[in-house]
Amino acid sequence: MFTTGFLDVPALAGVGSAVRLPGSKSISNRVLLLAALSAGKTRIDGLLDSDDTRVMLQALRQLGCGVAQNGASTEIVGLDTQTATPPPAKLFLGNAGTAMRSLTAALAVLGGQFELSGVPRMHERPIGDLVDALRQLGCQIDYLGQGGYPPIAIGQPALRLDQPIAVRGDVSSQFLTGLLMALPLASAGAGDVVIEVAGELISRPYIDITRAILLRFGVAVRCEGARRFVIPAGSRYRSPGQIQVEPDASSASYFIAAGALSDAAAAPSGGLTIEGLGDNAIQGDIRFVDAVRRMGAHVESGPDHLRVRRGAWPLKAIDLDCNHIPDSAMTLAALALYADGPSTLRNIASWRVKETDRIAAMAAELRKLGATVQEGADCIRITPPASPAHWRAASLSTYDDHRMAMCASLAAFNPAQLPVRIQNPGCVAKTFPDYFETLFAVARPAAAGVPVICVDGPTASGKGALAGALAQRLGYHYLDSGALYRLSALAAEQAALSIDVRHEAALAQLARTLPARFDGGHIWLAGQDVTDAIRTEAVGMNASKIAALPQVRAALVALQHGFQRLPGLIADGRDMGTVIFPDAALKVYLTASSEQRARRRHAQLLSRGAAVKMADLCADLQARDARDMNREAAPLKAAKDALLLDNSALSIAQSVEQVLLWWQARQPFQNA
Ligand code: DC
Repeated sequence: MFTTGFLDVPALAGVGSAVRLPGSKSISNRVLLLAALSAGKTRIDGLLDSDDTRVMLQALRQLGCGVAQNGASTEIVGLDTQTATPPPAKLFLGNAGTAMRSLTAALAVLGGQFELSGVPRMHERPIGDLVDALRQLGCQIDYLGQGGYPPIAIGQPALRLDQPIAVRGDVSSQFLTGLLMALPLASAGAGDVVIEVAGELISRPYIDITRAILLRFGVAVRCEGARRFVIPAGSRYRSPGQIQVEPDASSASYFIAAGALSDAAAAPSGGLTIEGLGDNAIQGDIRFVDAVRRMGAHVESGPDHLRVRRGAWPLKAIDLDCNHIPDSAMTLAALALYADGPSTLRNIASWRVKETDRIAAMAAELRKLGATVQEGADCIRITPPASPAHWRAASLSTYDDHRMAMCASLAAFNPAQLPVRIQNPGCVAKTFPDYFETLFAVARPAAAGVPVICVDGPTASGKGALAGALAQRLGYHYLDSGALYRLSALAAEQAALSIDVRHEAALAQLARTLPARFDGGHIWLAGQDVTDAIRTEAVGMNASKIAALPQVRAALVALQHGFQRLPGLIADGRDMGTVIFPDAALKVYLTASSEQRARRRHAQLLSRGAAVKMADLCADLQARDARDMNREAAPLKAAKDALLLDNSALSIAQSVEQVLLWWQARQPFQNA
């Protein structure tokens, strides 16, 4: 996940291959509850891992369900509600509205001794209409704080199910969903149970999701007209054994859009496949697909996949009522940047009251990119930049709104091949913490490529600390090329191969097939954690020797190039700017006086508990400098276009700020 202050997304040409996206939140919590209410084991695949699902899982554990994580699957052993009641429990449900409403209904119908509460904001979210409906049918519910709001206490019911149950449908469809999921618990020995919705029923697509999931658990709710729902006599939950949570359709909209924007040459495999989501999808937002098809995208679908590629180009402008897809309609606003004329999205008043005023926010940010935007109370009209020359490299604000951030990334496909800066990219965590990682894994950069910043310099000049800090600040990958030579030296030692020119070919072969793995600050060689083992002075000295062998250097080139991945790379070494990445966007040559470097290395070794004499260290440093600078193959020297930074008198933080200033000066963003 990117927790940087901003993320610069390089210009992108397209997306290809395949993605599987995180599970739908609405489906995840419904499936968890029904699995808990079905006797026996249910294996759930594709469950969303988020705050709301974690709260639900904890509640289910307290109620006596078995919960086990088995690789990517979650296994729930449900309650046998026919023979046993759950133990008394105090359930804390955070800010998870779905969990609060559905557990209230299910536990009130089951009966027992329960208290349900949440965070302060949860205690401001109404639940009165659901409680009224449940009381009508004989449930025992008391408010523990303010009437009409959680926290609540639940007791033993005296159920009366012979009359239709009335529930309001115009505040939250979650009330109806709660009843639909609770009442099959009581219908085993009863006749048909009827629910009648009073007033308008909002968010109908969510009720359809509820009914589709109920069906998977053996309960076929009949829908008689728009507002009457019947749970047939004798209904009972039966676990389907295994159930797959489909990926979130709103999250998928960004990838569908990226597929529609992909330059055919950049997607030679014929487009992007979205796995797990297709014609069988039960989420309303899947109808985003119809809208992108109208804009000219080529979307092929199967029961559980979508395959998207560019069709009409430029896209066709649209004028669309977006009431049925309020969330993914934001993605259409981003796509409108690539249309052949002005597009109008209507009936989106709900945008004004979401995470931010999304109409105002979208208008402001699209204008920064060069579009002309008109806002209405409940609509937005977007005229794309008139030509590639009218596009601007912009730093886009995200308003702590995950969807603004994900939409912003779609500007990176611009025809002017400009990068886009996204402020506070971490806000995607609300629904999709790994959004950018997922995008970068399937995206191809435009011709300008993936930016590289090189940090070269002699040993102990502070390259590692500087490069690591830069990588963190920019969210870039980090190549510690010295570690590759150190690993090669260690591998030679383990293979009992002395570092000698006579063994050059064998040593090169070792380096070429190095079983190395880098993850989260740790370095592994053939499954062994060698993070500390490669940092000794002895290995450093051998690294310097093995690095003088041209065949070994050549053997490591492809591995080093492999680190140049989206969104960017900080490469630290001796020949990053001169040999490995000669076209790097910025090259820094870092030096410090040899006394200063010896002092730093001394402190570093002492902190690791190694006792070394200062005099020996100075001699070692000088020997390594001499070898690194005087060898034939790629000797250590500053690239002609490198900027020199002598950090003898600078702290790491000061060096980082200096390099970031140089970097910023080379960026095209006008309003950064
Ligand atoms: O940066 P370091 O001390 O971890 O590097 C270990 C040795 O590897 C160093 O003495 C020289 C060699 N090296 C190199 O030749 N080229 C690089 N790009 C990086 C390191």
